[in-house]
Amino acid sequence: MRVSLEQAIAELKNGGVVAIPTETVYGLAADATNDSALRKIFAIKQRPADHPLIVHIGDISQVQEWVTTFPEVAIALATAFWPGPLTLVLPAQPHVSRVVRGDEPTVALRVPNHPVALALLTKGGLSVAAPSANLFTQLSPTTSAHVEAGLGEDIPVLDGGACHVGIESTIVSVSADGQWQLLRPGMISEQAIAAVATRAAHQQAPTGVSADAAVQQPLPKAPGQHALHYSPRTPLLLFKDRTALTQECESLQQAGLSCAAMLIGNGDVPNCPHVTLPDSPDKVAELLYSTLHSLDAMKVDRLLVELPPSLPIWMAVLDRLSRAGYR
Ligand code: TXA
Ligand code: MG
Repeated sequence: MRVSLEQAIAELKNGGVVAIPTETVYGLAADATNDSALRKIFAIKQRPADHPLIVHIGDISQVQEWVTTFPEVAIALATAFWPGPLTLVLPAQPHVSRVVRGDEPTVALRVPNHPVALALLTKGGLSVAAPSANLFTQLSPTTSAHVEAGLGEDIPVLDGGACHVGIESTIVSVSADGQWQLLRPGMISEQAIAAVATRAAHQQAPTGVSADAAVQQPLPKAPGQHALHYSPRTPLLLFKDRTALTQECESLQQAGLSCAAMLIGNGDVPNCPHVTLPDSPDKVAELLYSTLHSLDAMKVDRLLVELPPSLPIWMAVLDRLSRAGYR
């Protein structure tokens, strides 16, 4: 059910939930200070209760209302990247809802870079907790149509067009003494974070995690990050090279199974329906979930996905793909 900005604000103030656009993915929002509203998010998403939520605020000046300390490094990161796809995990004030924190001593905050989300937060005087507006473990939505397909027509949706970043925010935790750690890769790269953090603190950044390591070894444990997350319904297989993907397609078809492929770069796979994405991390991120949503809707037996190279610039895309399927 599409709602206007005014209706969305009223619904949220009334303790309801509304799916809202952000630059990364659509979020399922509720007033971050209202526990019964927050519990509705968990019920709708069928999400375990110990998973903390990201609080979306309208402006950096509001951070003080949520945290006990805002270290220099975190101030520098927020100043450099907000509004934008960066979430900062900081020590929480005691009043911050345990439902939002998932019982952690910290709270995750971000200022989204989307005009509709910012209008909602500032005009409404609201702070909203918003995980991605999809069922737990399923593909994240990047359009209002994805939200309706995943959560049903009864969910109020504030339409803001297609999300232009396309994958979830980079999550960085910063401790009271200014040490930082990457908890989830995103389109703001670890290198970009390190550059700003190092300038702010003259501190040594932690040893970089290579993209390959991100695929093979999990990042530091962040609550609520699952090995299999962001998955389409159709079983999805990942391939490092096109030849192996083509051979798998042939053997599946010989066995009477249908498949469809997502490719990156040039060329194609004969006799296999496919979507080819441009060889650019920004473009693949922007189109990743919508491509997987449309391939999933084809109802084939297997999705075959070509992996980008194991390079740092592809880290966030590799992370999401590694959680969506098997190699
Ligand atoms: O781009 C995004 O971040 C999107 C849009 C809607 O803003 N939101 C999003 O939310 O991805 P969600 O719920 O799918 O991811 C929240 C994740 C948690 O699963 C957890 O890994 C981390 O953020 N997180 C939240 N609060 C935390 C905390 N206090 N400590 C550590 N990690 C936390
Ligand atoms: Mg999610």
